[in-house]
Amino acid sequence: MAGVAVSTTINGDHVEYLCQPDETLLEVLRDRLGLTGAKEGCGTGDCGACSVIVDNRLVCSCLVLGAEAEGRQVETIEGMAHGDRLHPLQQKFLEHAALQCGICTPGFLIAAKDLLAKNPDPTEEEIRFGLAGNLCRCTGYDKIVRAVQDAASVMRG
Ligand code: FES
Ligand code: FES
Repeated sequence: MAGVAVSTTINGDHVEYLCQPDETLLEVLRDRLGLTGAKEGCGTGDCGACSVIVDNRLVCSCLVLGAEAEGRQVETIEGMAHGDRLHPLQQKFLEHAALQCGICTPGFLIAAKDLLAKNPDPTEEEIRFGLAGNLCRCTGYDKIVRAVQDAASVMRG
């Protein structure tokens, strides 16, 4: 199969890669670009562990083709902290112990970032609804919701 040449932007950096036409964006990120923060939980769009933001839209990267990133702006978990300075959501996930095994965490952080960008002051119900596409088998969700509420408050100043 002939490869597809893709030119895109990932976390603000111009990136070019070759991929197969049937290769997912998740495979490209992890296997070709070494961006292993996005996880493969299910590969079928059900768990949210592979969440990334493409052109300001939250997507499951396991359901997007690598070729579809052409000309887009992709944000992954690797772009969330600035150097040693954690994003408030990352900081609050740590403070609230909102993770155990951590497999779901990058996806939750990206989904929460997308949620707060669109709704800086969400109710608990809106947070639970906004994160409904992300599954966690460890935490029971309450700590995640508290961490997002706390981060939202910090981010609003
Ligand atoms: S790995 Fe993509 S939604 Fe589960
Ligand atoms: S912390 Fe283990 S799946 Fe969420």
